[in-house]
Amino acid sequence: MSPSRRIIEPFRIKVVEPIRMTTAEERLMHLRDAGYNVFKLRGEDVLIDLLTDSGTSAMSSEQWAAVMRGDEAYAGSRSWYRFEAAVKEIFGFFHVIPTHQGRAAERILFSTICKPGDVVPSNTHFDTTRANIEAMGADAVDLPIPEGLVPARFHPFKGNMDVDRLRALIAEVGAGRIPICMLTVTNNTGGGQPVSMANIKAVSAVCREHGIPFYLDACRFAENAFFIKLREDGYADVAPKAIAQEMFSYTDGCTMSAKKDGLANIGGFLCTNDAALSRQEENLLILTEGFPTYGGLAGRDLDAIAVGLEEVLHEDYLTYRIEVSRYLGEHLTEGGVPIMQPPGGHAVYIDAAAFLPHVPARQLPGQSVAAELYLDGGIRAVEIGTVMFGRRDPETGQESTAKMELVRLAIPRRVYTKSQIDYLVDVTLDVYRRREAIGGFRFVEQAPVLRHFTATFEPLYPMEATP
Ligand SMILES: Cc1ncc(COP(=O)(O)O)c(C=O)c1O
Repeated sequence: MSPSRRIIEPFRIKVVEPIRMTTAEERLMHLRDAGYNVFKLRGEDVLIDLLTDSGTSAMSSEQWAAVMRGDEAYAGSRSWYRFEAAVKEIFGFFHVIPTHQGRAAERILFSTICKPGDVVPSNTHFDTTRANIEAMGADAVDLPIPEGLVPARFHPFKGNMDVDRLRALIAEVGAGRIPICMLTVTNNTGGGQPVSMANIKAVSAVCREHGIPFYLDACRFAENAFFIKLREDGYADVAPKAIAQEMFSYTDGCTMSAKKDGLANIGGFLCTNDAALSRQEENLLILTEGFPTYGGLAGRDLDAIAVGLEEVLHEDYLTYRIEVSRYLGEHLTEGGVPIMQPPGGHAVYIDAAAFLPHVPARQLPGQSVAAELYLDGGIRAVEIGTVMFGRRDPETGQESTAKMELVRLAIPRRVYTKSQIDYLVDVTLDVYRRREAIGGFRFVEQAPVLRHFTATFEPLYPMEATP
């Protein structure tokens, strides 16, 4: 095949779901009703929904067929054994604990191994991971490489952890206070950026030296494996599945949301090689999620995940998957829109601080970009900046700001066509052209934890349907 040949969607469409056009006037009304928080919009009022790539995948005909094979026996169903075999085949751990989604795996893990005063390092913790660690009174510490914090800077593995900082942290607090060290692959909060095999190995070596269990937050393990294939020396001829198996071979366990690279609409799991730990975790699972052979999932969900885990490692699927974000990133960059470079695996992140340089972090520039994308073209994106990671001091009312002000355009797997991506580019460029007329936002209401889900806002500039 000629190298200039276009990469196409490696599937054809069998079932369609209509999406609804709305007018700018309607969208302004919906935004006001939602307190300008896009999480509070009705899905039917959104044209292109890029809020998340989590649980939004289109399942394949094989997955739907697997759903029909689902065995709903309470204990020891055939679905469980198919699921367990699929997980063990790729992830390679001895013990697999099914959960209804990733954060349930996190809660079970951290409430089993963390105590107040502990410290949990990661390249960058995802918000639910951080919240579950902090809920145990432990400290969640991010140790990204310096390049990871500069959106415009190119680095092939911007998701890497700074191994020197990890060593320094261990020297400072002592290995006894670090019950676990994690790497998020790909690094979602850090821009969907991959972690290299060399970095996984280096972090693993430091952890082994100090007797610290090392886990992957494996939500996007297949995309990470494919980036290793594309960008790391020695992996060009290795199959994505073998790369994934090697990634897990350096670790002691993982948390997983099957709503991402499980290509399923619900589900997750927790893995470990530690038999005593897995017994403790199973006891907690029974208390809150369900019996250890279903863990809060229906048999049909387990079967859909088993097939999804196999499909997600197909090379033609991964080629197309990474191409979508590359294509989107390239077209936004050509139009001058500042984005986190290079584009991540599951998403393109707009650098809202550079998009709206006249809006200070305290006036939530990412919130402005997210609201304007919806107003302009019915596109729902998510702020990953001060709204998500800043904090209001309950005593002084002072707001802290995030390290970066990003807006994530997360791409659901196998859902949108290339012309819909082209429309997304058009809308984003239109918003960018009139950026000088866009101002900031302020909080009206906010919850003490995970405030971005429920907060309400108001614009500090006249937001108009026909700008
Ligand atoms: C890196 C990462 N970890 C954990 C989670 C939590 O998974 P879930 O939404 O299934 O609870 C997510 C979800 O977006 C994630 O991106």
